[in-house]
Amino acid sequence: MYVSNIKLRNYRNYSNADINFGKNINIIYGDNAQGKTNILESIYLFATGKSHRTNKDKELIKFDHEYANLKINFYNKNGLNSGEMILDQNQKKRIKINTVPINRLGELMGFLNAVLFAPEDLNLIKEGPSQRRRFLDIFISQLRPNYFYNLQQYIKVLEQRNNLLKTINLQKSSQSRHMLQDTLSIWDEKLVEHGSNIMLNRTVFIKKLKEYAKKIHLNITQEMEQLEVEYLPNVKMNHMEDLTAIKDLFQKRLNEKKKKELNTGVTLIGPHRDDIHFVVNNMPVKNYGSQGQQRTVIFSLKMAQMEFMKEDLGEYPVLLLDDIMSELDHNRQDYIIRNISDKQVFITCTDIDRFEKDHNTTFFRIENGTVFEGG
Ligand SMILES: Nc1ncnc2c1ncn2[C@@H]1O[C@H](COP(=O)(O)OP(=O)(O)OP(=O)(O)O)[C@@H](O)[C@H]1O
Ligand SMILES: [Mg+2]
Repeated sequence: MYVSNIKLRNYRNYSNADINFGKNINIIYGDNAQGKTNILESIYLFATGKSHRTNKDKELIKFDHEYANLKINFYNKNGLNSGEMILDQNQKKRIKINTVPINRLGELMGFLNAVLFAPEDLNLIKEGPSQRRRFLDIFISQLRPNYFYNLQQYIKVLEQRNNLLKTINLQKSSQSRHMLQDTLSIWDEKLVEHGSNIMLNRTVFIKKLKEYAKKIHLNITQEMEQLEVEYLPNVKMNHMEDLTAIKDLFQKRLNEKKKKELNTGVTLIGPHRDDIHFVVNNMPVKNYGSQGQQRTVIFSLKMAQMEFMKEDLGEYPVLLLDDIMSELDHNRQDYIIRNISDKQVFITCTDIDRFEKDHNTTFFRIENGTVFEGG
């Protein structure tokens, strides 16, 4: 698929931009703080409904303006699609897909498929497990809207179950405590139902993703580095692809921990405690990886995601590479340039020396919220 046009009105530092993109490589270049990332962010917004930099939609509206309006046109294997998004200082954002308003963000999943590499993604390695779960969740949700639904339900149930655990904990009489405890099983059932589905999907997706990532990582490092991606589910077992078995074990673990849960007032078992491990040449990248190695792992992971999605969708998603070249040596940079030309890709950079001016490549110079096409 490829994005053919985007229109930005009062969005970030853009008053009025109307950009026609090339089908292959789009180089978005310019000095710092001119608005390069803002463009990638606007495309990503149509893929996930959210910015990768903020949860606050208001930050996306140009300073001192009431609303922002974004429009996108893109082609997938079924033809032309259009999207529109209106961000308002005073109300929830409104989204239209092919002129039809959508009611829930979940309906946007699977509309425009995009894979983003951003500097913030280094947190995937450096920070805690929630960042890694988020990566997985966005990835799977784009391909399986039902996963997104399960996830939202799970989060809701988890919150309600935690509230109940806390309430039970506060009861003075043992009679009322027991009465409330009896209602816990209703939440257990829902937690297990949605949670097991999440675990099963994570298992299946990581299994395939890790094979792609391993191959790509060997290529980009000229066979020097072996990457292992490992799923670390909180409810761990040998047959992670058997939904009934996962459900049984999940429930069993909940029963075992019930006493402790009642004391602490939080749910201690479930996929909200899952993690992923990245290991290069038998060393955890988090502890021992260099800056460049960490970036390369993330890149391999994102490229693996591209291949996975292509197999699943029958076409490549669009690839958004924000500031990818920095901290990578020439070999790794060359690999990237050689391996992106068969998909639509958006690359931001400050320096265009490394890119050839061929018919596959379109250049956009960005200066203070204005776009100049040409190199
Ligand atoms: N809501 C907003 N209204 C107006 N301007 C904004 C808004 N949000 C961000 N900006 C401006 O956008 C600019 C940053 O844009 P962006 O992050 O796209 O820069 P960049 O070109 O990617 O820079 P770098 O090379 O440093 O990554 C900043 O100057 C910032 O002040
Ligand atoms: Mg930037």
